[in-house]
Amino acid sequence: MSIQITGVDPRDVALLLQWNGLLRDGYAAGREKVWSRSDETTRLQFQNPHPTRRSVLLLAEIDGLAVGAAEAHGHPDEPVDVEIAVLEGFRRRGVARALLHAVRSTLRGTATVMRTETYSDAGVSFARSAGMRVGVRESRQVVDLPLPPGTLDSLPGPPSDVEVVSWVGACPPRLLNGWARLRTHMSEDVPMGDLTRTVVPADIDAVRRNEERMAEQGYALVRSVACVDAHAVGYTEILLSLPDPKIVLQDDTFVEERVRGRGIGRALKTANLRRLMSVPESAGSRFLQTYTALTNEPMLALNRSVGFDEVDVLTVLEGPLG
Ligand SMILES: CC(C)(COP(=O)(O)OP(=O)(O)OC[C@H]1O[C@@H](n2cnc3c(N)ncnc32)[C@H](O)[C@@H]1OP(=O)(O)O)[C@@H](O)C(=O)NCCC(=O)NCCS
Repeated sequence: MSIQITGVDPRDVALLLQWNGLLRDGYAAGREKVWSRSDETTRLQFQNPHPTRRSVLLLAEIDGLAVGAAEAHGHPDEPVDVEIAVLEGFRRRGVARALLHAVRSTLRGTATVMRTETYSDAGVSFARSAGMRVGVRESRQVVDLPLPPGTLDSLPGPPSDVEVVSWVGACPPRLLNGWARLRTHMSEDVPMGDLTRTVVPADIDAVRRNEERMAEQGYALVRSVACVDAHAVGYTEILLSLPDPKIVLQDDTFVEERVRGRGIGRALKTANLRRLMSVPESAGSRFLQTYTALTNEPMLALNRSVGFDEVDVLTVLEGPLG
C-alpha cells in the first residue's frame, strides 16, 4: 500500500470539488446536522483568493483512489489553520500523518503555530500524536428552522432604554464606527481557552472588505446592533448562504461588559432571527447553528432559551508547525 500526496490546483474545478467532498465526508462521518462548505461557495472562495492568505490544498490517494484531504490557511503572524479528513474505510493507515507531514513541509518557515479542529476522539488523539494540545472546547448548538410559531414573540424584548436596529448586508454608514469598534472588542474578549489570541483590529476598511468578500461568496449578512443613547453597545450577526440556505450560521454575538446581564444579548438574537425570517431564501432554511465555549455559561443558557440544543462538541488544538 502506498500513500500518495498531491497538491490541488484550485483552477481545476472538478478536482477542487472532489477535494471539498472528501473534507466534507470525512468531517461529517458519524455526526448529525452538519454544516459544510457548499461546492458553489468553495468555487467562489478559491476563484478569488484572499490577497494576504497562503493556502495549501492536498489530496491523499491510496493506489490511485482518493481517500483523504487537507486544507491549510495562514495569514502573516497568525496561527495556520489546518483541516485534515480521511474517509472512514481508510483510517489508521497513516493517511492523516502523511497529509500533515506534507502541510508542515509546505508551510515551514511561514508560521510557527498551527491550529486544528475536530469533533471526534480520533481527531483529538491524532492531533495529540502530532504534538498538539487542546486549546478550547466549544458546544455546537443547533435549533431547527422554521422556529415554532410564537417562539420569538414569547421572548422578552430589549430593556426600554435600548434600541435594536436590524438590517441585511453592508453596515449603514451611521453605525459603521460602532460596528468596527464592537467587532474589535469581540476578538479581544471571546473565550479562547489556551489558544493564541490574535486581535485583528476591525477598522472600517476591513469591515467593508469583509462585507464585499462575503457577498461575493453568496452570503447574506443578517445583522443587528443594540444602542443606548445612540451609542452602539452590542451586535450579532447571522450568515445565510443564498445558494445553500439549508443551514444558517449564527456568528458573533457581543455585548459590552458594562451593560451585560440586562437581556440585551437575547433581544439582539431575537431581533436578528426576525430579520432572518424576512429574507425570502430563509424559507429553505432547516436549522441554525452556533458555537459557544463550554466555559461560556451565560451564552449557553441564552441559546438554550431560544431553543438551541447541543449536537456535538468541537475541540480546537494548537501546536508547533515546525
Ligand atoms: C482524525 C483523522 C484525520 C485521522 O486519520 P487517520 O488517517 O486515521 O490517522 P493516521 O492513521 O495517520 O493516524 C496517525 C496517528 O494518530 C493517532 N490516531 C489516529 N486515529 C486514532 C484513533 N481513532 N484512536 C487513537 N489514536 C488515533 C495514532 O497515534 C495514529 O498512529 P498509529 O496508528 O501508529 O497508532 C480521521 O479520523 C478523520 O478524518 N476524522 C474526522 C475529521 C477530523 O476530525 N479531523 C481532525 C484532524 S485533527
